[in-house]
Amino acid sequence: MRLLILGCGGFVGSHLLDRMLARTDVEIEGWDPDRTKIAKHLENPCFTFHQVPCIDGVELRRLEERLVGADALINLAAICNPSQYNTRPLDVIRTNLFDSYPVVEACARANKWLIYFSTSEVYGRTLSSYLKTESNDPDLYELRENQTPLIMGPIVNQRWTYACAKQMMERILYAHHATTGMPFTIVRPLNFFGPRMDYIPRCAGEGVPRVLACFMAALLRGEPMQLVDGGKARRTIVAVEEAVEAIARMLDMPNKAKNQIFNIGNRDNEITMRDLAEMMRDVFAEITTEPKYRSHPIVDVSGEDFYGTGYEDCDRRMPDLTQAETLLNWRPKRSLREILLPTMRDYLTRYADLAQSNETAVAS
Ligand code: UGA
Repeated sequence: MRLLILGCGGFVGSHLLDRMLARTDVEIEGWDPDRTKIAKHLENPCFTFHQVPCIDGVELRRLEERLVGADALINLAAICNPSQYNTRPLDVIRTNLFDSYPVVEACARANKWLIYFSTSEVYGRTLSSYLKTESNDPDLYELRENQTPLIMGPIVNQRWTYACAKQMMERILYAHHATTGMPFTIVRPLNFFGPRMDYIPRCAGEGVPRVLACFMAALLRGEPMQLVDGGKARRTIVAVEEAVEAIARMLDMPNKAKNQIFNIGNRDNEITMRDLAEMMRDVFAEITTEPKYRSHPIVDVSGEDFYGTGYEDCDRRMPDLTQAETLLNWRPKRSLREILLPTMRDYLTRYADLAQSNETAVAS
């Protein structure tokens, strides 16, 4: 199998490389601005890496050449950090829509299978949140790939720039398939967690990372964990290793995966952000053997203060997983605690200096 992967050096890409390069029948050519998370694969003869800031004209020509002998192109490249949707809206739209568009055209010209990583944010907010109902009718909150309407907030809430750009890409893929026959698969990830996830703010990266790294930063620095808008939002969390297994199954079963849209998440791991903060305090106390973390401070903050104007939250993301279960025979099993333990240990190892300096500051 020959694969091309854009964004192979990111969190998901690095786990996908681990999974696919463990096999002997796979050759991968990848593109990414960064190589830190995939250093261990750089010497692998089955992997060719291009460290480039973006897919410009030169790289697009290279990509077109490589498409000739490829079985699939997987596009993971994106700006997918909520703090940037309302603060860098033009970059978010440019990267996620306009920079991705020529790649679709190249796949269509070559009639090659494009596996596109979209987002669960395309669903926007649930119907029940707009109707302000307490009803527990799954029709009002469950996210079904081929049925649920995609409901975004008003233009002034720039949170939705990302979801709109991704939705437009999905529609372009679908239209290309209908018009030119280009095979496609759309993946909608629902909160993948695992080792090598986001950076810790003020150590690396730009803006505010996703919730796991924010809470980890607070624990490592001895600062309060901040709960946005009361921590009522709910997410379902899936282990990244199990999520990339779903992608491996798609690649092994092209007849089942082509021209489909898949939610990839774990229905059993639904949690509010307040409960996640509390669970992370307990797990951190366990892995550091420091009981004091069980009562680590948690404070409330408004979405506007935390993310700036134009933030609006997705209230709940409960995926219907029938597609992945029936077509790929995929069902994730790892509990949230089983996911948090190795993930938080990884942060503790990567940012040992930070934890150390915090201990020193508290002691002196
Ligand atoms: C993000 C991306 O926008 C999605 O595209 C992506 O699919 C998803 O992450 C993912 O990881 O799969 P979101 O879940 O909203 O979406 O991102 P987070 O930053 O992880 O926020 C989750 C919730 O935690 C939100 O309600 C946010 O307001 C809250 N939060 C975040 C806090 O309460 N405190 C923090 O310090 C940070």
